[in-house]
Amino acid sequence: VAPVLLRTSVNDFTEEPVSDEVVDGLLRAAMSGPTTGDQRPWHFVVIRDQAVRNKVPEIHRFAHLVPRAPVALLVCGDETLQRDRGFWVQDCAAATENILLEAERRGLGAIWLGIYPIEGLVQAFRRLINVPQHAVPFSLVALGYPVERGRTVSQYDGSRVHIDIWRDKGASTCQE
Ligand SMILES: Cc1cc2nc3c(=O)[nH]c(=O)nc-3n(C[C@H](O)[C@H](O)[C@H](O)COP(=O)(O)O)c2cc1C
Repeated sequence: VAPVLLRTSVNDFTEEPVSDEVVDGLLRAAMSGPTTGDQRPWHFVVIRDQAVRNKVPEIHRFAHLVPRAPVALLVCGDETLQRDRGFWVQDCAAATENILLEAERRGLGAIWLGIYPIEGLVQAFRRLINVPQHAVPFSLVALGYPVERGRTVSQYDGSRVHIDIWRDKGASTCQE
């Protein structure tokens, strides 16, 4: 089964460290994502420092797992690197998803923690990580080797697929 079909959010990590080489592979995957006009308006902060990771749950209410994740990647958008204003959000989302898929392919587990557009979170991560005003913390991806893993049930929903013209087919759950 393709790694993309097995991906799930992981929030329990083993103590096995994540090597610099693996992190480099994740960053290369992130920067392989499509971007508006090929403008690549992102920056990435590799967060390994335990003291910094310990502070994340104080500012993000769903981030209790970050102190136990060996590494976290902060994806930031930079509007000064972009002509097509506003599209950085989609570019950063594509980069974030690429990190998740490459993590899955490498046997890692990951979870996407949303930051942007919650202004309080954006400001709190700016302060914690010293992100300059022209950049916007977008997402934090916590990573490590998973204790448990793998999707077993398909999320495919045929009622959300329309061919040529939108027809309301009513709800159905996860049918291939
Ligand atoms: C934009 C975005 C923000 C998210 N923020 C959080 C978050 O703050 N905390 C969290 O536990 N999960 C977060 N997630 C993960 C989702 O909760 C998760 O993807 C969803 O429940 C589906 O589960 P799955 O990833 O295992 O398929 C976020 C996902 C996305 C796409």
